[in-house]
Amino acid sequence: MCGIVGAVSERDVQGILLEGLRRLEYRGYDSAGMAVIDGGRVTQRAREVGKVASLAEAIETNPLSGHLGIAHTRWATHGEPSQVNAHPHMSGDRLAIVHNGIIENYQDLRDELKADGFEFTSQTDTEVVAHLIEQYYRKHSNLYDAVKAAIARLRGAYALAVLHADEPDHLLVCREGSPLVIGVGIGENFIASDQLALLPVTDRFMFLEEGDIADIRRDAVSIHDREGTPVERKIIRFEHGSDSAEKGEYRHFMLKEIYEQPAVIKATMEGRTTDTRVLEQALGTDAANLLQDVNHVQIIACGTSYHAGMVARYWIEELAGVPCSVEVASEFRYRKHVIQRDTLFLCISQSGETADTLAALRQAKQAGFRAALAICNVPGSSLVRESDLVIMTQAGPEIGVASTKAFTTQLTALLIFTLALARHNGLTEEREAEIVKAIHQLPGQVDQVLALDAEIAEMSKAFMDKNHSLFLGRGSQFPVALEGALKLKEISYIHAEAYPAGELKHGPLALVDSEMPVVTVAPNNALVEKLKSNLEEVRARGGELFVFADSAADVKAEEGIHVMQLPSVHEITAPIVYTVPLQLLSYHVAVLKGTDVDQPRNLAKSVTVE
Ligand code: G6P
Repeated sequence: MCGIVGAVSERDVQGILLEGLRRLEYRGYDSAGMAVIDGGRVTQRAREVGKVASLAEAIETNPLSGHLGIAHTRWATHGEPSQVNAHPHMSGDRLAIVHNGIIENYQDLRDELKADGFEFTSQTDTEVVAHLIEQYYRKHSNLYDAVKAAIARLRGAYALAVLHADEPDHLLVCREGSPLVIGVGIGENFIASDQLALLPVTDRFMFLEEGDIADIRRDAVSIHDREGTPVERKIIRFEHGSDSAEKGEYRHFMLKEIYEQPAVIKATMEGRTTDTRVLEQALGTDAANLLQDVNHVQIIACGTSYHAGMVARYWIEELAGVPCSVEVASEFRYRKHVIQRDTLFLCISQSGETADTLAALRQAKQAGFRAALAICNVPGSSLVRESDLVIMTQAGPEIGVASTKAFTTQLTALLIFTLALARHNGLTEEREAEIVKAIHQLPGQVDQVLALDAEIAEMSKAFMDKNHSLFLGRGSQFPVALEGALKLKEISYIHAEAYPAGELKHGPLALVDSEMPVVTVAPNNALVEKLKSNLEEVRARGGELFVFADSAADVKAEEGIHVMQLPSVHEITAPIVYTVPLQLLSYHVAVLKGTDVDQPRNLAKSVTVE
């Protein structure tokens, strides 16, 4: 994913920009670049394919020095990774910009600008924005007005930082669908796509809101909202110690990671969705060409990632109407397969280093699949390097062995992928908009579930001295039940089995008695009435029920039936929301039992051997 850094200072900004880029390396990128305005008021630029270290070497040989500059790490979407496609992009020799996101109408704008005499040197959507701003600059002779006029013509998602040698005292930045933060210094100011890039220079940040344009000077920051009204954005101090590799105020990494979910789900959707659509190009340069050919999806993964794949199967078949198979990697790699034509091979992995998943991918590459897509959380991992297309989840480092935030961000990425695929398979714009809206509601809904933490901790007491438990779900909630059972067994060592609720009477009902707690997830969907009959079957055998239910599902609490009401959620996004109370339940049971929550016995975070 691309990264942006910028600075306006009395000191030379080159070092600040390079350090900022280094701190963004964890996001994954394929090229890096920088532009600064020097004392002679000329815009100078350096760009390199590969690592930030290569850019640093290039700059050492040919220094760029100046008091105002922008820099970027690029993850290719439009046009291959190459020096000419790397940012910053320039219009003429005075205006330079860096951009995160996707401009959907770039082709029309490109044709228009070409007709007006602009020459293009790259295949990117970003260069279009550079020329468009320059065109308006010629008219308005004012960078703020030029940027404002240009962004009014853009469709898609973007965070932009713009400089112009004719106005060497300030930077302009704006955001729409991609994050951008201002770092507030003393006599100097900074901008970045992620506050982590700026921690060496400041700990005070202002977060731009959608539609904001900010003018950044050495000693002043002024912000206007979408309507052009001057606005103040609160300065927030970065809390040291809440760094991603620190537990901070939390007792365990697992709890911290459960609580990070609203933020990381948001980060995973950012830059990939507008208010109403998924930005297909954000899935990779070649995504559109590829997705239109796909006739079948084969998903491969292990552990929690496999459960994410199982949820995705429901989505892919329902929304895209494309057949989808899901299999654990350790089985897939050791059997013969019949590969249907134009099958997309999709691997899901938090670490990108799981031995079985990698082995399956390597086999698949020999076996005639259409292409390999990875959904992964670790940039630069083997899986990322060896796949044709990659969707990075933005969960940040996950330390707890029991996976939590990786799972919900995998689901977010998988749903975005599904919508992009479905668009080639008859999904209407209205339905896409409805589901994208539901995706945008997820961070708030997960927050509402987190607010139930104390009640869930209370509920967990009922599990503390049990040896067995049963988890039930139907439809896309069946994999959620599987994931809930996996969490409980991983960290509390209580035997937990998950069943599709309809299978109850084909076996597990024989186990049900007062010693067997039965956990059920019951969003209000077409299957809820059937699920309620299954709950009656449990209750009739003396089983104690713990039900997480939508209030509209009308599951009544009574003797032996404990009901916790969850927010009303869209049926498609419900698996993401309903996973969270099950994570909290397992966490609290484990804490009560005094097990090693973050490093459960016999398990490893990354299984790199067979
Ligand atoms: C291990 C971890 C699990 C994880 C699984 C797959 O078993 O403990 O949390 O789900 O590996 O790992 P991956 O990195 O491929 O998602």
